[in-house]
Amino acid sequence: MRRCQLVKPRVVETNEGIQGEFTVEVYDKMMRNLRDRGWIETDLILEMGINHGLSLEIGPGPGYLGLEWLRKTEGTTLRALEISADMMVMAEKNAREYGLQNRVKYVEGDAQKMPFEDNTFDGVFTNGSLHEWSQPSKIFNEIYRCLKPGGKYLISDMRRDMNPLTKWFLKLMTKPKEIRPGLVSSINASYTVQEIQSILSKTDLKSSKVKKTTMGFIVTGEKASETR
Ligand SMILES: C[S@@+](CC[C@H](N)C(=O)[O-])C[C@H]1O[C@@H](n2cnc3c(N)ncnc32)[C@H](O)[C@@H]1O
Repeated sequence: MRRCQLVKPRVVETNEGIQGEFTVEVYDKMMRNLRDRGWIETDLILEMGINHGLSLEIGPGPGYLGLEWLRKTEGTTLRALEISADMMVMAEKNAREYGLQNRVKYVEGDAQKMPFEDNTFDGVFTNGSLHEWSQPSKIFNEIYRCLKPGGKYLISDMRRDMNPLTKWFLKLMTKPKEIRPGLVSSINASYTVQEIQSILSKTDLKSSKVKKTTMGFIVTGEKASETR
């Protein structure tokens, strides 16, 4: 007999991104701590072939993922679209600290309506932002529109049906402890693999692969190359 796991409904967290200097500073501390431990996950992005040209990051927050990606690639440039002005200030400061300010441009805006031309980017990546998007399907279609034919994308986030023990451990490991309530509300706002597959199936990213991980899932794919 198949077991049916009961998952609580999503509790929407925010439609405005992470705002407010205090929250941004605490979030920055958490991500800096992960960066210092070497836990910022750039390998999958690179393995996907997002390793050249111009990429887009959606919701960079304090910027460490994109900055680490730039640091590990050569001759690349990055646009990073962020809805929170406070986060942008922090990301710009961090880019200067990395000495990478000439290779990244932070753009304030809502990814539901990206201020970029069609077929602009060689790659698009985003981590931990999806659960904050009020209409993910719009952003999935925007990713497709802004990617060049043959361009690749990677979208990663947590899932709210992660094992309760994993959730407990993740909470315990997350520092500073002031960020823990925010972590829990982000998990409660996140999607399950089934939910995200259902949303993707109605968008231009319908041919994506979705891989379940211990704490979340990773959506990957490629915009079809133009046929003659
Ligand atoms: C939880 S943080 C993740 C930050 C970073 N990517 C990371 O891995 O730590 C989510 C970020 O996405 C931004 N965000 C949320 N909705 C957005 C939207 N519609 N367009 C652009 N950025 C958005 C938030 O302001 C926030 O900085």
